[in-house]
Amino acid sequence: MEPPSGPSRRRCVPWKRLLLAASLFTFWTPPTTARLTIETVPPLAAEGSDVLLLAHTVTENLLGYAWHTGERVENSRLIASYRVDINVTTKGPAHSGRETLYPNGTLLIQHVTQKDTGSYTLLITRDDLQTERQTGHLHVHPVLPTPVITSNNSSPWEHKDTVVLTCGPETQNTSYIWWINYQSLPNSTRLELSEDKRTLTVFNVTRNDTGPYVCEARNPVSVRRSDPFTLNVLYPVARPSLQASNTTVTEHEGPVVLTCLTNETGVSIRWFFEGQSLLLTRGMTLSLDNSTLTIDPVSRKDAGDYQCEVSNRGSSSKSDPLRLHVKYKPTPESSSDLSASAIVGIVIGAVAGVGLIAALVYFLYIRETRRATEQRDLTEHKSSDHNHSQGHSDSSPEKVNEIEYSSLNFNAQELKKKATSASPSPTHTETIYSEVKKQ
Ligand SMILES: *[C@@H]1O[C@H](CO)[C@@H](O)[C@H](O)[C@H]1NC(C)=O
Ligand SMILES: *[C@@H]1O[C@H](CO)[C@@H](O)[C@H](O)[C@H]1NC(C)=O
Ligand SMILES: *[C@@H]1O[C@H](CO)[C@@H](O)[C@H](O)[C@H]1NC(C)=O
Ligand SMILES: *[C@@H]1O[C@H](CO)[C@@H](O)[C@H](O)[C@H]1NC(C)=O
Ligand SMILES: *[C@@H]1O[C@H](CO)[C@@H](O)[C@H](O)[C@H]1NC(C)=O
Ligand SMILES: *[C@@H]1O[C@H](CO)[C@@H](O)[C@H](O)[C@H]1NC(C)=O
Ligand SMILES: *[C@@H]1O[C@H](CO)[C@@H](O)[C@H](O)[C@H]1NC(C)=O
Ligand SMILES: *[C@@H]1O[C@H](CO)[C@@H](O)[C@H](O)[C@H]1NC(C)=O
Ligand SMILES: *[C@@H]1O[C@H](CO)[C@@H](O)[C@H](O)[C@H]1NC(C)=O
Ligand SMILES: *[C@@H]1O[C@H](CO)[C@@H](O)[C@H](O)[C@H]1NC(C)=O
Repeated sequence: MEPPSGPSRRRCVPWKRLLLAASLFTFWTPPTTARLTIETVPPLAAEGSDVLLLAHTVTENLLGYAWHTGERVENSRLIASYRVDINVTTKGPAHSGRETLYPNGTLLIQHVTQKDTGSYTLLITRDDLQTERQTGHLHVHPVLPTPVITSNNSSPWEHKDTVVLTCGPETQNTSYIWWINYQSLPNSTRLELSEDKRTLTVFNVTRNDTGPYVCEARNPVSVRRSDPFTLNVLYPVARPSLQASNTTVTEHEGPVVLTCLTNETGVSIRWFFEGQSLLLTRGMTLSLDNSTLTIDPVSRKDAGDYQCEVSNRGSSSKSDPLRLHVKYKPTPESSSDLSASAIVGIVIGAVAGVGLIAALVYFLYIRETRRATEQRDLTEHKSSDHNHSQGHSDSSPEKVNEIEYSSLNFNAQELKKKATSASPSPTHTETIYSEVKKQ
């Protein structure tokens, strides 16, 4: 104990002598506090800041100042003393390394901590050796961290669960304020604040209690607001209904618009076809929010039961099935329509070709025959008439022609029977016939 206190005691010797002298030569004068006041700047000290303990005095001719911790003047509690006459500052045992004593008696404490909270006593000595003392107070407040809202139930069910929201972390001498939807708390029997207002209880939550919630923590040196907190209230969504612009449509026609009707907000919509998740085929389009399905053009494959499903985080619900009927012509007739007319065209073309070739062959044959006949006529005049008629019947070009014509006619009849739509076959046949006949 003795060695550490030794040096400070040595430094204090002149002071002790002065005080002794004061008590010996002038009778003890009670401290006249009216002339000495202490001001703390700033008055509300935040942890980590610098604080001045200002000494206001009207006293002239001062000999010295001495600051002590606590409310009493004790050497062991001396922070620092200063002698005006010799301009010397002396540190005491209570000096923490962060204090500075100015010649005007003011004490600076840097980087205050909550441990610095307490009383500080200043003793001043006048050059007539009279003393005065005054005690000041310092309260160091913590700087609050930004609060965070926590819930004891992250996904409460509507009309079922009670949720406790807490504004944390807990700090001393802090007051709390809450907001819902950026407005002060409504007057509701389902809302209850704890006595310190740090916790907010929401009884029987509804989807309207989603929030956002904000809490504010406040102490003399700081105000901090939480980030908005949203309560994820779960509820069963109501069943949607499905509507169609037309439930009976003809194939290749359209559009058919199916609309999923729901009163829920913030839900997602899915579509089902024949009980299976709908695969979008060509012609099908969904609106941006998936609430309408448009089919254009309609195919017979689109006929069947449609359903829509609305869902939120908590639940989902499907509409009743809605049946789409698609009318179309029976398969064989409609599918052979085009190919039949194509066949007709091909056959007619082929027959026309054959006819022309036959006509050409016949023409050449006639020419050759005529030439031969003319030559014969030149030599055999008498038998020319007979030969002509004989040649006509013998070579029988008319017969060939007749066969050609009948087969043509037959083909045309056949085609006529098959073709439903107006086909150019009859006129064609007639033309071919007339051509052949001429030749
Ligand atoms: C007191 O001493 C300090 C250095 O220790 C000096 O800067 C200052 O000017 C002196 N003040 C007076 C009034 O002599
Ligand atoms: C004493 O001096 C300090 C440092 O110069 C200054 O900040 C403070 O205001 C002064 N005190 C008074 C009471 O004037
Ligand atoms: C949350 O706290 C309330 C009130 O104490 C309680 O009724 C509820 O069951 C708690 N929820 C959970 C998930 O612990
Ligand atoms: C809280 O306030 C009380 C009374 O004012 C005080 O005694 C206590 O030291 C304060 N605590 C803090 C951490 O400031
Ligand atoms: C809340 O409502 C109750 C009952 O209607 C009423 O007595 C009370 O004054 C209201 N409180 C506020 C702050 O409006
Ligand atoms: C919460 O709901 C229960 C059951 O429906 C009911 O008994 C209770 O009074 C409700 N609490 C509040 C604060 O409305
Ligand atoms: C939510 O608020 C709306 C509008 O204020 C109201 O119509 C609805 O009934 C409320 N829903 C619940 C479950 O409280
Ligand atoms: C439904 O579609 C069918 C076939 O396309 C049509 O005959 C009928 O007029 C349509 N009905 C309505 C109400 O549009
Ligand atoms: C939507 O609300 C209206 C009126 O509240 C109601 O008539 C209708 O049936 C509801 N529709 C659905 C799909 O829930
Ligand atoms: C619409 O549905 C598709 C597929 O079903 C999905 O990927 C998409 O997110 C949905 N869009 C919306 C807005 O719900």
